[in-house]
Amino acid sequence: MARNKVSVIGAGNVGATTAQRIAEAGLADVVLVDIVEGLPQGKGLDLAEAAPIVGHDAHVVGSNDYDDTAGSDIVVVTSGLARQPGMSRDDLMAKNAGIVRSVVREAAQRSPDSVLIVVTNPLDAMCHVAFDASGFPRERVLGMAGVLDSARFRTFIAQELGVSVVDTHAFVLGGHGDTMVPLSRYSTVADVPITELLSPKRVRALEERTANGGAEVVALLKTGSAFYAPAASTFEMVDAILRDRQRVLPCAVLLQGEFGLRDLFVGVPAVLGRGGLERVFEIELTPDERAAFERSAAAVRDLVERLAALPA
Ligand SMILES: NC(=O)c1ccc[n+]([C@@H]2O[C@H](COP(=O)([O-])OP(=O)(O)OC[C@H]3O[C@@H](n4cnc5c(N)ncnc54)[C@H](O)[C@@H]3O)[C@@H](O)[C@H]2O)c1
Repeated sequence: MARNKVSVIGAGNVGATTAQRIAEAGLADVVLVDIVEGLPQGKGLDLAEAAPIVGHDAHVVGSNDYDDTAGSDIVVVTSGLARQPGMSRDDLMAKNAGIVRSVVREAAQRSPDSVLIVVTNPLDAMCHVAFDASGFPRERVLGMAGVLDSARFRTFIAQELGVSVVDTHAFVLGGHGDTMVPLSRYSTVADVPITELLSPKRVRALEERTANGGAEVVALLKTGSAFYAPAASTFEMVDAILRDRQRVLPCAVLLQGEFGLRDLFVGVPAVLGRGGLERVFEIELTPDERAAFERSAAAVRDLVERLAALPA
């Protein structure tokens, strides 16, 4: 049986680390693509040379040519620019929209049956760009954010309580970043909701730290943004899809009436399997949770409308 094939577009920090995880797990052959000549080839060769030591048989190659991505089962999109000094959020959004639109067009036509996983920020808006550029059904366009946001929440809960992250679960809804909605009622340690283990003040502090999780790492690194946890999160989605695991993971998906929303990519619990999004895992929300979710969705809608108003 042929091995699975994953193309990772963007051979920067998130892309190369995602490629490493996929290859080292022996999950799929990986094609790393970037616009910079030599960069994906160099990283691809370096990763291939680690294989004898790590002991996996996955092939890793780098390329500047989308023909090498043909027939991929999954295409991960991490290509984009980071915000430069003096660049507004809208400037960044316009630039990254242009990049995501062009790479998705190139990759989608060569892998028409693939599942797209979008990582480039601003995440929810870039999912809309990828959805439009690919022409794929919503089942095959997913955004990575919720897995990362909930991993950060789990980390902070486990640290606060001095328990293993393995026994700590967290539930996050909504857009990526500031407006995400951590559902503390469904966030647990050994099945006990954290609202029964921590004071409301501490719960709020952990929620806020989670919502600012990306900024906290940027402030420390100064010259880049987080990539180990984002790559691990992307890998978890790739694994769930390729192994048809039916995992319930928080992902940005195009809602079609679920949670009372339509035609908007927002983070919700999604069942992931070989077809990509197998179904949205709907849950009841309390009035407060619903209000926070709707605020988050409104922020995403605002972003998408601003994107539509920008010159193409
Ligand atoms: N969704 C999330 O939770 C999450 C988490 C972390 C990072 N991100 C986002 O992921 C993206 C990548 O982050 P990074 O740290 O890897 O950045 P990076 O700068 O290290 O890598 C980006 C790569 O994209 C490449 N690129 C630019 N234009 C291209 C094009 N037209 N075609 C192909 N490649 C192109 C660049 O050459 C670079 O190698 C950023 O937009 C970042 O904000 C999202």
